[in-house]
Amino acid sequence: MNMPSLKEAKKRTDKRVETKTYKKENKYQELLKNKTFYIKTYGCQMNEHDSENMIAILKEYGMKEVKDYEDADLIMLNTCSIRENAHNKVFGMLGRIKHLKGIKKDIVVGLAGCMAQEEVVANEILNKYKWMDFVLGTHNIHNLAEIVYDSFKDRKLKIEAQSIEGDIIENMPADRQNKYKAYVNIMYGCDKFCTYCIVPYTRGKQRSRNKDDIIKEVKDLIKEGYKEVTLLGQNVNAYGKDRNDNYNMANLLEDVAKTGIDRVRFMTSHPWDFTDDMIDIIAKYHNIMPSIHLPVQSGNTRILKLMGRRYTKEEYLDLFYKLKDRIPKVAISTDIIVGFPNETEEEFNDTLELVNKCKFDLAYTFIFSKRVGTPAEKMKDNVTLEEKEQRLYKLNELVNKYALENNKKLEGEIVEVLVEALSDKEGFVMGYSDTNKLVNLKGEEDLIGKIVKVKILEAKTWSLNGEYVE
Ligand code: SAH
Ligand code: SF4
Ligand code: F3S
Repeated sequence: MNMPSLKEAKKRTDKRVETKTYKKENKYQELLKNKTFYIKTYGCQMNEHDSENMIAILKEYGMKEVKDYEDADLIMLNTCSIRENAHNKVFGMLGRIKHLKGIKKDIVVGLAGCMAQEEVVANEILNKYKWMDFVLGTHNIHNLAEIVYDSFKDRKLKIEAQSIEGDIIENMPADRQNKYKAYVNIMYGCDKFCTYCIVPYTRGKQRSRNKDDIIKEVKDLIKEGYKEVTLLGQNVNAYGKDRNDNYNMANLLEDVAKTGIDRVRFMTSHPWDFTDDMIDIIAKYHNIMPSIHLPVQSGNTRILKLMGRRYTKEEYLDLFYKLKDRIPKVAISTDIIVGFPNETEEEFNDTLELVNKCKFDLAYTFIFSKRVGTPAEKMKDNVTLEEKEQRLYKLNELVNKYALENNKKLEGEIVEVLVEALSDKEGFVMGYSDTNKLVNLKGEEDLIGKIVKVKILEAKTWSLNGEYVE
């Protein structure tokens, strides 16, 4: 048993990060081969990519993926802790799985991902979910085969989710869900400690991968036919700051662009670390997409300060306008939290005012959710849930209005789309534009995997309809 500890998770030391190499262990193969598995993924792109690693590891041992959890020998939930409702969904699903395990005693059930790293969750599982087989933390993904093997051998609950600052594991296989677009981790963890956020505790300290490993991964993806990479991290603009080798995000963006891959994206950008050099590089290389996710969280400086975001409303706006000014046709999206503890009506109105100024292409909006162990958990809050819901509703109306307005501007324009799949509607295909807008167009399978020019005919709030030009 290696239980997570909130106290340990909060620690940051200058202990050096080790880069380790994943290796397959043949001794697990015999027992695991031909067993079936089902993985359900919650949360962000990081978690999706972790699932791609886990799926590939299990397949390497001869296991087979099934689409329905009721058909699986191994059921695994790759979980997210970011908000209360993510939690609730997982516990709801565990209820259904418990029922199944009552009927099919031989199945193995495991929980991985960010919830596995929460002390409160691990304790709850230890006390009330003894029927489960394992809990595997975010620092232990490379040990998946071992814990699954042990679980099939003896069905005692095992918890491997110690809170450590974390290492970097290279060479893990990935079974990518998309054939044309790939996620590439460039860093792990986060040291920003925004006061509402649980990620620094569930993912450990900020660790940037070696640039040569990243570039090699991108070059290999090109050879495999990939057209687009998204460089992933909680705070990608801070890439390299933990390495002291004078190589930063601007350098990395440039080197990735120079590999010649058709499209480069990156997320998420924290405004604090966005440098002028980065802006120059994004503007200079046509294969770095003009699409930036730049979470603002609030339009009020007092709230931003309480959130620990390290910028004022004015500083955010300066950066926003600079990006708009220097990167032709850039689309900017954001994240916003309403109902932070004691947020007043006026402070919320500042957020609306900022949205009115920025007219974001897209905004993900959330009601503040109290996370155990974060500083914001202890903050007094006199705003009722009803009030918070009303604010969210009002904000969404505004955000949707601007999403549609931005899309409308594209009517009649020609945009480049990487077609990635058949659309739900028969005779149509779908893909994303350079500015990351979902585009549906008439077309057949032969367009899939190609970057084509599309004339936009009709704009909706969440998507565009267009016709193939060339
Ligand atoms: N690293 C990214 C964000 C990752 S979490 C960044 O700093 O921008 C994605 C989004 O979830 C955040 O931007 C924030 O808007 C939201 N979020 C995080 N913690 C939250 C909480 N406790 N309650 C509500 N929303 C939260
Ligand atoms: Fe959370 Fe802030 Fe880190 Fe983003 S930068 S993951 S919001 S602590
Ligand atoms: Fe959720 Fe963990 Fe991602 S908390 S948002 S899965 S980093």
